[in-house]
Amino acid sequence: MIKILAIGDVVGKPGREACRKIIPKLREKFDLDFVVANGENLAGGSGVTKDTVQELLNAGVDVVTTGDHIFKKKETKEVLEAHMDVLLRPLNYPQGVPGQGFTVITTNKGINIAVVNLMGRVFMQAVDCPFKAIDAVLNGIKKRANVVLVDIHAEATSEKVAMSWYLDGRVSAVFGTHTHIQTADETVLPKGTAFISDLGMTGPYKSVLGRKIDQVIEKFLTQMPVRMEVAEEDVRLSGVLIEIDSESGKANTIERVQEKM
Ligand SMILES: [Fe+2]
Ligand SMILES: [Fe+2]
Repeated sequence: MIKILAIGDVVGKPGREACRKIIPKLREKFDLDFVVANGENLAGGSGVTKDTVQELLNAGVDVVTTGDHIFKKKETKEVLEAHMDVLLRPLNYPQGVPGQGFTVITTNKGINIAVVNLMGRVFMQAVDCPFKAIDAVLNGIKKRANVVLVDIHAEATSEKVAMSWYLDGRVSAVFGTHTHIQTADETVLPKGTAFISDLGMTGPYKSVLGRKIDQVIEKFLTQMPVRMEVAEEDVRLSGVLIEIDSESGKANTIERVQEKM
């Protein structure tokens, strides 16, 4: 059995601080083998920089997945190159886009764990089909790893739930990210795939999805461009703990986690 912590969208400095303070404690408390975090909001709430990804790795994160905000910073291509193998962008971006959509990491115990990053298309950018994208790579990945984790970064619950059934028994876990709100539907599906629609946000909860409340309300009231800064208060880490049989790749349990800083 291996124990994995998956945490949702880490937002800005408060989110990174929460990771630095809480992940080492959880690693020890639960004797974690692997930590995966969604980092699309790492740098100032949108996108990634070399240093902010490094901060997350230093905090004890093994692989950083991302989503629709990945290319927000000018230097993204260099960041993806600098952290190749541990920083992913959604697999189903069009061909030729920098970065990679999956990786295989060997843990301290010598277990190979694959992470695949997908992005939904409903109410989002017109990327390639996430279902066909994972089909194209999954057989190859499974030759290299028994344990396969999938981050489906998507807006629509239906697309995430459909993906979980599509992959049931073919991967170890499917977890949704992007909405920043943790859902209460964690379950192990009949063929052994752990699933939750959304891991929730790691960042400031006295906010609107991590941004300052007044600024977001102003945006809704005026429909004009408004600078939306990262909020600061009530910082929490949010995600799930998953136990997986490293031989069969099937999940045993999935449990929600939300820790205050
Ligand atoms: Fe996000
Ligand atoms: Fe997103």
